[in-house]
Amino acid sequence: MQKPENSKSADLGGGAAPSSKRVCILTFGCQMNEADSENIAAAFRRRGYELIDDLKKADAVVVNTCTVRQRAEDKAISQIGRLRKWKLARPEGKLFVVGCAAQKLGSKEIKNRFPFVDEVVGAKAIEQFEDSLIAQLGPSPDTETIHQNLFRSPQTAYVTIMRGCSLKCSYCIVPAVRGPAVFLSADAILQDAAAKIKSGAKEIVLLGQTVNAWRGGRTTFSELLKKVLDLPGLERLRFMSPHPLYFENDFTALLARENKLARYMHLPVQSGSDRILKLMRRGYTRGEYLALLARLRAAVPDLAVSTDFIVGYPGETEADFIDTLSLIKEGRFSLAYCFKYSPRTEKPEMAATISGPVMQARLEKVLAAVKTNSRVILNERIGKIEEVLFETENYGRASGNFACRVKAGGTPGRLLNVLVAGADKNTLNGKVL
Ligand code: 5AD
Ligand code: SF4
Repeated sequence: MQKPENSKSADLGGGAAPSSKRVCILTFGCQMNEADSENIAAAFRRRGYELIDDLKKADAVVVNTCTVRQRAEDKAISQIGRLRKWKLARPEGKLFVVGCAAQKLGSKEIKNRFPFVDEVVGAKAIEQFEDSLIAQLGPSPDTETIHQNLFRSPQTAYVTIMRGCSLKCSYCIVPAVRGPAVFLSADAILQDAAAKIKSGAKEIVLLGQTVNAWRGGRTTFSELLKKVLDLPGLERLRFMSPHPLYFENDFTALLARENKLARYMHLPVQSGSDRILKLMRRGYTRGEYLALLARLRAAVPDLAVSTDFIVGYPGETEADFIDTLSLIKEGRFSLAYCFKYSPRTEKPEMAATISGPVMQARLEKVLAAVKTNSRVILNERIGKIEEVLFETENYGRASGNFACRVKAGGTPGRLLNVLVAGADKNTLNGKVL
């Protein structure tokens, strides 16, 4: 799921070895980047570094960049620019620029523009980040893998199951910067998940750009889900983000059967217009997408579905846009992330054709429609019982990914039934049963 392009700095998880050295990691973009940042943090921790939020006190800084839209890239780049001051104040400090924008722009351009950057590691080489650390800081005395969780509540852990993407959506830069799809082995995935559960995770989120495209020899995605579901100690399993093309028949049966599989899915649709979907090379029609939703909801009637929309795709007419607006209601989305089209290539046919004001007006309309629709979907939950995984005494997430508040009675790390009494913006309110 794509979130707004703000950076997240690591929260200070416990367990850092006492050290005089500190690292600050600034992460832009999606959950894949967050998961990469966790691995980077583990590599620093093996060298005794403590993770901190405060840039000014850092001996090393990592900027993990995004380039999915121009705005995301610009934000990461201006962050690097602002680090000039940090480097001046601390010339011995090490600055690493990593991730998708680093891959797109290349080491040469980044070092030309920002000569104070010490190392550039593109998204395709992110698994070799350790080599850059060795180059800058020397080898680590400790080779142990640290399973940790930096950006979320301690009971949720990310497990990357695939990297890259082999689809060719016309607007998307991800396949170019992350490369074609590569699947991790079932054994490696299960080991990672089991270790994270052992360190306290109750909820696992399997990650990949087209996560349900995963295959491991003859093992299907659903079979992998089943293996993860069988790990002792796991309370809930999520995955992000699936692609409509890759759901196999065995999935709906699993979803219907397995309560620990979250009653939620983020299933990006991008547009409600068949003409635009075809231009985008999404591989499905509006009707096929809706038929898939119907199939999933036949298995789990209260399944919550969120999505992504792009408005202002080149050549998008008013009629195409109206098709997108109508899909919001028809798809019964609980939430949708909406983006203005951002050209990611120089190809003339991919240049933006919709004027800025029209693009903005469409974005505002789609956001308003999503807001109205979300309220309807949320209100439907009033009077129902939701299974909530609590993060604090008062707050947790329902299986359908709705935020849920109670006055008292929540136990962090536990799944409890909550009777929903009301809904407010994006949050359900209720009482622990
Ligand atoms: N312009 C606008 N939005 C984009 N996305 C991906 N590429 C672009 C682009 N060029 C959006 C899609 C995707 C989400 C991660 O980002 O909606 O699902
Ligand atoms: Fe994530 Fe890279 Fe896509 Fe940004 S461009 S959303 S970091 S995969």
